[in-house]
Amino acid sequence: MIRLIVPTADGTNTLYVPHLNEHYHSTYGANEESKHIYISQAYVHSPNPSPTVLEIGFGTGLNAMNTCIEALTQQRKTTYICFEKYPLQIEEIQQLQYHTVWQPHHQGYFWHIHSCPWNTAIAIHPYFTITKIQADICTLHSFPLCDIVYFDAFAPEKQADLWTEEIFARIYASISHTGILTTYCVKGNIRRLLQSIGFTVEKIPGPPQGKREILRAIKQ
Ligand SMILES: C[S@@+](CC[C@H](N)C(=O)[O-])C[C@H]1O[C@@H](n2cnc3c(N)ncnc32)[C@H](O)[C@@H]1O
Repeated sequence: MIRLIVPTADGTNTLYVPHLNEHYHSTYGANEESKHIYISQAYVHSPNPSPTVLEIGFGTGLNAMNTCIEALTQQRKTTYICFEKYPLQIEEIQQLQYHTVWQPHHQGYFWHIHSCPWNTAIAIHPYFTITKIQADICTLHSFPLCDIVYFDAFAPEKQADLWTEEIFARIYASISHTGILTTYCVKGNIRRLLQSIGFTVEKIPGPPQGKREILRAIKQ
């Protein structure tokens, strides 16, 4: 898959996939999007003191690293399980320059997240353990038990096979009571799909720049 590095409005880079005409993050701000949609509105919002987070689409590791830092800040034991079909090359990770987002004494966590082996649980620090799974989520019959889901796939009009009733029903089956799923996509058909499966769905304000609204689904 050809990927190009492009800047976003908050000064952090993202990747652009020409054949999909799709970015990995919002062009209004990659890191602002990650911190708002996944950290503030899902991780921080979750009542679970020791949550398991499931990420659909590990990609650049931006959401994983922001969660790693938040877990340390909150001293909240966090298990992070993420799926990725097309892992990035280490050269791409280096060119993104994401490590400069965090304080120098935290940057080692970012490299550890990327260099650690796939398909194995690795403790990055005492409050954050990650398992990166190289797999196509369309081939999975079930997901690991979890409390928080970061649904960060490419847009439904670009990858319709990831935004299906089957996949959301499998997530619903694996997410705990009061579990939270957030995503950047607020399209009516996706909201209705999540509601039909059993989630309580709300549109909430998006990051300060860019998308006006995002989606949060809760299993009640
Ligand atoms: C919008 S990007 C988000 C990436 C990531 N969350 C980040 O912050 O960089 C979508 C990600 O989903 C991955 N992906 C696409 N199809 C997939 C599939 N069938 N199974 C698992 N991951 C997939 C892509 O390779 C890409 O890394």
